[in-house]
Amino acid sequence: MATPFDPYLLPAGQGLRNRLVLAPMTTYSSYDDGTIRESEVEYLRRRAAGGFGMVMTAACYVHPSGKAFRGQWSCADDRFLPSLRSVADAIRSEGAFAVLQIHHGGRQCPSELCGEVPWSASAVASERPNAETPRAMTEEDVETAIRAYADAARRAFEAGYNGVEIHGANTYLLQQFVSPHSNRRDDRWGQERLAFPLAVTDAVLEAVPTGYPIGYRFSPEETETPGIRWADTARLIDALCTRPLAFLHVSLRDHRGSSLNEEFDEATLVRAARQIGGRLPLIGVGGVKVLDDAQRVLDLGADLVALGRIGISDPEWPRHAQSGQPIRTKVPSHNAEEILTIPAGLAARIASVPGWFEVEEATPAEAR
Ligand SMILES: Cc1cc2nc3c(=O)[nH]c(=O)nc-3n(C[C@H](O)[C@H](O)[C@H](O)COP(=O)(O)O)c2cc1C
Repeated sequence: MATPFDPYLLPAGQGLRNRLVLAPMTTYSSYDDGTIRESEVEYLRRRAAGGFGMVMTAACYVHPSGKAFRGQWSCADDRFLPSLRSVADAIRSEGAFAVLQIHHGGRQCPSELCGEVPWSASAVASERPNAETPRAMTEEDVETAIRAYADAARRAFEAGYNGVEIHGANTYLLQQFVSPHSNRRDDRWGQERLAFPLAVTDAVLEAVPTGYPIGYRFSPEETETPGIRWADTARLIDALCTRPLAFLHVSLRDHRGSSLNEEFDEATLVRAARQIGGRLPLIGVGGVKVLDDAQRVLDLGADLVALGRIGISDPEWPRHAQSGQPIRTKVPSHNAEEILTIPAGLAARIASVPGWFEVEEATPAEAR
């Protein structure tokens, strides 16, 4: 059985030094136009130096209409190439595999950030407090968005990333087309709800050289009714497996968790791995803290294991885990920015959401 420290070869032959992935995490700190700040570069440089085999970036918006967070990175124009390159260079200089996550927020974009009524498959608001009602994308908008994802992938290649992850998870635009909650269209983009994500995937693959690694992240289920159920996801997986992708990435809150809606005992990660059946590599994620957790993700059927919050609280997690040193599971309440090399916007965000991260009191030396 593979361990998290074993090297890994992607389908087109690119090598990873181990199976540990820093999960994509938004850093809320870029300049207003989407240019990446130096503190965001240093945050990822330190995690790459800490031993992760693959480092995924924050979600980066592919078109101005897709900006979902204050301080979000942009890959929506060629003028961002130097900004994007600064991160790719930093990650690669530390021996890690650099992956840019490309994203459009769809109906989750506040109009004050995306500058217009948010776009989505249909004019249906999400079931969240104060959610704005989006407008249904026109045929022209759909074409614009497909082009924008493809151009973003081409920019990632030109900026020196080793690969790209298409963000099809966590309720954003691509998932909104898959979901019967947000996609009520009766045209070709609604009769086949997978049509848009697959058109994006194909356009992205077309925009980069053959064999350049492209992955796809998806959320397997929604709790809304109507909403995405496992049968939808099984179809999505089967369709994606016919494409020359580098990996699939199942977005899970807890890697041990089973279905949110249906009476299945087994972990959703196990079902995803079985559905894929070895046709593409699978990245698992969710609630990994210590080495045993990472090993369990592989044992449940994933090929690679992604670490999110624990990669923020312990930038050197891979090194610490491999050498048997203690893992830092809590974010210090003081000076976290300096101690952990976290950009200010991310530190503020962590502090503002109670219970999201474990917080520890600073030691006297650190608090000084
Ligand atoms: C601060 C923060 C920002 C995140 N931003 C993104 C993102 O930009 N793209 C994405 O796909 N997931 C994002 N996520 C989700 C993580 O990639 C991951 O799936 C989730 O945190 C579960 O893993 P964990 O339990 O190891 O933290 C974010 C999570 C955190 C904590």
